[in-house]
Amino acid sequence: MSAILEVSDISKSYGGIQAVDGASFTLDKPGIYGLIGPNGAGKTTMFDIICGRQVPDAGKVLFHSSRVDGVEPYKLARQGLARTFQECRVLPEETCLDNVLFAAQSKRMTSEMLQVFTRNTKHRRDAEVEARRLLRLINLEKYADQPASDLSYGQRRLLEIVSCFMSKPRILLLDEPASGINPTLLNTLRDFLVELYEETKIVFLIVEHNMEFIMSLASTIIVMHQGKVLMQGAPEQVQADESVIDAYLG
Ligand SMILES: Nc1ncnc2c1ncn2[C@@H]1O[C@H](COP(=O)(O)OP(=O)(O)OP(=O)(O)O)[C@@H](O)[C@H]1O
Ligand SMILES: [Mg+2]
Repeated sequence: MSAILEVSDISKSYGGIQAVDGASFTLDKPGIYGLIGPNGAGKTTMFDIICGRQVPDAGKVLFHSSRVDGVEPYKLARQGLARTFQECRVLPEETCLDNVLFAAQSKRMTSEMLQVFTRNTKHRRDAEVEARRLLRLINLEKYADQPASDLSYGQRRLLEIVSCFMSKPRILLLDEPASGINPTLLNTLRDFLVELYEETKIVFLIVEHNMEFIMSLASTIIVMHQGKVLMQGAPEQVQADESVIDAYLG
């Protein structure tokens, strides 16, 4: 069986800065994967390349054996690639429910989803049922009809993550989902991701600096350092690796 995501020899520089420098890794089966490394290691740049926001200088990205580097983000979203950003992006004046419904529409505009905001009340109703189910799973159901500005920063991040699932992605990239989230919400987020993984069995690729969170969640960790992939392995292997300890964990 071919890999789900294959990143081969990717390089990307911004002016004189080599953000990614010949990085390769393969995600060959569904699972929760962590992408870790020090500040400036190239993790977000790697996400930007995988989801089409940046075109690499060299290398290629294969998604289910199709070449996707350089393909526009909206086309990749339609192919089932969803992501969140390092900075939180919700619409503060819209209700939490509408934020989730809007994400369904904007991230993957299948004809079915497009009808969410049209006169087809059946589709709108189905989407709303799903949106409320997801909000319930992340403990935000009681805010469904309130503006997102009523939420704490951490809750807004959860709202953004929940929204990704409306497009029924085949791969989900989360950039530092735990940042700015208090310990209680962090447990809610972990439980939510485990539950949604069990339900969807897709690839979750998660950039994270919170080691306790990512090591307890992911079954495979990829470590980046200075634009390169230092190693890929099980959390316990990674945590015991001298080169990883020197570069990051130490
Ligand atoms: N748009 C850009 N223009 C110029 N330099 C950039 C740009 N994006 C990233 N860089 C630089 O590329 C390098 C890698 O940045 P990147 O954001 O990918 O790292 P990161 O691993 O996500 O770091 P962090 O953990 O701090 O989020 C850094 O030196 C950064 O300053
Ligand atoms: Mg980053």
